[in-house]
Amino acid sequence: MNVVDSEVVAAILQQQQYQLTGEIGEADLILVNTCSIRENAEQRVRARLREFRKIKEQHKEVTVGIIGCMAERLKEQLLSEEPVVDLVVGPDAYRRLPVLLDNVQQGQKGIDTVLSAEETYDDIDPVRMDRNHVTSFVSVMRGCDNFCAYCVVPGTRGRERSRDPETIVGEATTLFRKGYREVTLLGQNVNSYRWDRGDKPVTFERLLELVSGIDPLLRVRFATSHPKDMTDDLLKVMARYPNLCRSIHLPVQSGSTEVLKRMKRGYSRERYMDRVTAIRRYLPGATLSTDIITGFCGETEQDHAQTLSLMEWAGYDFAYMFKYSERPGTLAARKYTDDVPEKVKTRRLNEIIELQQKLSLTAKEKEIGRTVEVLVEGTSKKSGDHLYGRSSQNMVVVFPRGNLKPGDYVQVRITGCTSATLLGAPA
Ligand code: 5AD
Ligand code: SF4
Repeated sequence: MNVVDSEVVAAILQQQQYQLTGEIGEADLILVNTCSIRENAEQRVRARLREFRKIKEQHKEVTVGIIGCMAERLKEQLLSEEPVVDLVVGPDAYRRLPVLLDNVQQGQKGIDTVLSAEETYDDIDPVRMDRNHVTSFVSVMRGCDNFCAYCVVPGTRGRERSRDPETIVGEATTLFRKGYREVTLLGQNVNSYRWDRGDKPVTFERLLELVSGIDPLLRVRFATSHPKDMTDDLLKVMARYPNLCRSIHLPVQSGSTEVLKRMKRGYSRERYMDRVTAIRRYLPGATLSTDIITGFCGETEQDHAQTLSLMEWAGYDFAYMFKYSERPGTLAARKYTDDVPEKVKTRRLNEIIELQQKLSLTAKEKEIGRTVEVLVEGTSKKSGDHLYGRSSQNMVVVFPRGNLKPGDYVQVRITGCTSATLLGAPA
């Protein structure tokens, strides 16, 4: 999400004759697009601000702005706590950046953290900041109405709103014409995408059909799906379009129904398992990834064991795993006690990570001997003679360069693997 937001901000500022630079020493304006999801994300921003203080001591004219979720969460407090900051702009106020920058020019501070029920920036053509010119992100909705008990997002990004499907299809078509071969449709909860303003409502299933229909050579991914809203209809649409990638990110958060209830996730362990079974039925061979929070309020050893057993059962290919971090203002912060000791959280997280590494390796080993279609993205980090790309299942594949280039599709026979990467050679 934040990548797309930064691309939107870059587009707004380019209209004001600003240019992007890769050299921080050259910058007249430094904007930090921030995340508040866990406390350590915010701590990293504070550390960056200390670096900017030094830059500003040498170049007094540099403007420093905090944009995104941390701006929204802390508002004026950021200006008083961090004197180096000139500008604080929330996720729905980016169009006001030019005016706010004028204020800063006149020696004032600039702040706007008003959230909107409508803003989707749908008319703004993002300035792409990807490196490979092959894969890109397209925002399809903003905000979130789910209010999971632990999560700041509904507070910092505001109410859920969907973007006009015509502009989404237009943006994806432009990317394809420019040579991009993969788009990832982004929203906090894409399954509840809905556009009601045309003749017929456009659901997420319909949107996927529209974007997949642009060209069979355009791969389409999406994130994030919410288990409570993941329908069989969506899986049926996926099964019909081979360019809809065979990988689903379905955050489980916990394997214990009791914990899920406290988290206000809206599904039980059994319901989640039912959704995974449906994925396996409609999309055999699809990979599954997830998000897990460990050490949520009241999590017992039995709850933790349930998470481990669900991970084994689902056989996740990949997982983002986090220790619970209490966020001010959330339901959990107000109602529950953050009572799992730090040491226990760390131990449980390590157990989860260890299990996931085993599951990831098992999943990769199954690919050995198979031939997979890979979209080439770029040169491998480890060797200039090798390229890397991903399979439809979202597995990273490394193979000898040959005459291939980014944007090509190639059949690769898999000959080896690590827990993160497949190795092979063009078939
Ligand atoms: N603490 C730890 N992890 C969190 N996430 C969201 N809020 C928190 C929190 N307070 C995780 C969830 C979510 C992912 C984007 O971040 O797993 O799916
Ligand atoms: Fe946060 Fe839950 Fe919304 Fe995801 S669905 S952004 S975890 S409130």
